[in-house]
Amino acid sequence: MIFETIITTTNLNNTPHVAPMGVQIEEGTIIIKPFKPSATLNNILSNRRAVLNVTSDVKVFAGSVTGRKNFELIELKSKVGFRLKNLHSYAVLNCISVFDDSSRPTLRLKKIEEVFNTNFPGINRAQGAVIEGAILVSRLHMLPIEKVLSEIKYLEIAVFKTAGPNELESWSWIKEAISEAYKK
Ligand SMILES: Cc1cc2nc3c(=O)[nH]c(=O)nc-3n(C[C@H](O)[C@H](O)[C@H](O)COP(=O)(O)O)c2cc1C
Repeated sequence: MIFETIITTTNLNNTPHVAPMGVQIEEGTIIIKPFKPSATLNNILSNRRAVLNVTSDVKVFAGSVTGRKNFELIELKSKVGFRLKNLHSYAVLNCISVFDDSSRPTLRLKKIEEVFNTNFPGINRAQGAVIEGAILVSRLHMLPIEKVLSEIKYLEIAVFKTAGPNELESWSWIKEAISEAYKK
């Protein structure tokens, strides 16, 4: 099973980096598989740390793939990293092993601290649709236009039926990125 999360990392200058990443959880170990090249990968290799952010704020996912990167972050008191301001929970992770690969290494990380912030209110279809839309945007260079447009048309049904303001704004960013890509 893969969970869509936001991984925050820091570089050697303590500058935060935010990236959506699908993670697997195997008996308490978090597995992250970043495609090369990746700032997330470089940061974890340099300091062995990451923060796993569990959020249903889909603006972070849609914003990441559409160039809107002014995320609200909070530096952890321990100074070991940053977390999203708006999240359900976060965990500080320590990288325990790296299995290198020419395109997609496998990183295994252990939770060293976990903090619960807000309740998860339940599954929302529009949020799921935004996540799917964000994945489509991140793969526009390798997907046929007909597939992207037909998937967007289907996903939009859930957005129009169940979205709140956050989801509608995120969806507008996704639609805009797709129209821009196909104008060229
Ligand atoms: C929902 C979602 C899940 C993603 N999961 C992954 C992933 O598991 N591995 C990956 O390399 N990129 C993933 N991406 C794409 C990255 O977030 C994006 O390419 C990002 O720029 C990663 O590169 P970076 O580490 O240099 O920021 C995902 C994107 C979305 C929207």
